[in-house]
Amino acid sequence: MTTTPRFQTLTRLSAIALLAAAACSGALAQGAPKLKVGLMLPYTGTFAALGTAIENGFRLHVQEQGGKLGGREIEFFKVDDESDPAKATDNVGKLIKRDQVDVLIGTVHSGVAMAMAKAAKESNTLLIVPNAGADAVTGPMCAPNIFRSSFSNWQPAYAMGEVVAKKGHKTAITITWKYAAGTESVNGFKEAFEKSGGKVVKSLDLPFPNVEFQALLTEIAAAKPDAVYTFFAGGGAVKFVKDYAAAGLNKTVPLYGAGFLTDGTLEAQGDAAQGLFTTLHYADGLNTPKDNAFRLAYVKSFKLQPDVYAVQGYDAAQMLAIGLAATKGDVSKKAEMAAAIEKARIDSPRGPFTVSKAHNPVQDIYLRQVKGKENVSAGVAVKALADPARGCRM
Ligand code: PHB
Repeated sequence: MTTTPRFQTLTRLSAIALLAAAACSGALAQGAPKLKVGLMLPYTGTFAALGTAIENGFRLHVQEQGGKLGGREIEFFKVDDESDPAKATDNVGKLIKRDQVDVLIGTVHSGVAMAMAKAAKESNTLLIVPNAGADAVTGPMCAPNIFRSSFSNWQPAYAMGEVVAKKGHKTAITITWKYAAGTESVNGFKEAFEKSGGKVVKSLDLPFPNVEFQALLTEIAAAKPDAVYTFFAGGGAVKFVKDYAAAGLNKTVPLYGAGFLTDGTLEAQGDAAQGLFTTLHYADGLNTPKDNAFRLAYVKSFKLQPDVYAVQGYDAAQMLAIGLAATKGDVSKKAEMAAAIEKARIDSPRGPFTVSKAHNPVQDIYLRQVKGKENVSAGVAVKALADPARGCRM
């Protein structure tokens, strides 16, 4: 091809301009300040192990991306929220006002998460909730800048209500901690169980995070329901499952729960947990390429077996990465980040999921049974279950 000298000069000039632009943007990416990620999680108390698993999962994804998300290195700011709602507003304020984080990741406890959601909404800080199921977060409190990588309290509970009814049980007693997660979990179970012809004959509870179960177990033994449904997690779940077995109730009244009852806890529960059925958005032995790779990498990095909390932390990082990729690391472009997450299919170790309009995962809920140290999948209890997002206007 022959070209005029003037055309050649023009092409040369535009090539120079392109190179200059590339060099400039490279310099920007390199010189871009680190992305400030605020981790507000429990590092002490009954949920301490859950906080650590979430952080590990989050770090694993960042590590797999070469230590950067959206082209930016990460700087972590950490606060131990102690699963204490009374300290939650002060704690989240430290991250938002003192540390001026770009993104908030947290937390485990529903009551603390609601305070975080309020602060995130008021300050328009991006929040990704990597566990707490508080229905309100993706219900009345839903907001364009608030996402969840985990579940709503309603989801696993509703699935279990159907399962227990299908097993032919007619009456059930519920037992849980008296706070948002426990109450909402019991409500979700009751909704599905009673819709399917069952009856919750008694609802027992105790203050969070108490573990003096004896008097309540005596009440269950006296009432002799067909089944018991429970929400406990972390250290409290370990103690509850052991006490239930020690009282001999595991021989007479079948115990069912949201899967937190037996996730990350089997090492400590031992024989007492054998055979228990639970429902959750994760299970052991899924044997998919994504889950196998995740589990191998997690064990290698942390010398610990992953659990549902590790998956939720990993997926919180995946969701953030998807948002940041769409804006080349610019967190000020909130609407673009949100749009990218909203249309994503997130390749989670649990199986792929999307987020609902209210920003909660739409996901399969597995029925699992404890065998040895594993929550072995007994199949999907409810496929692509979406939280009803009652009260969300967005
Ligand atoms: C919650 O408070 O929402 C919560 C805590 C621990 C879990 C699950 C839910 O394992």
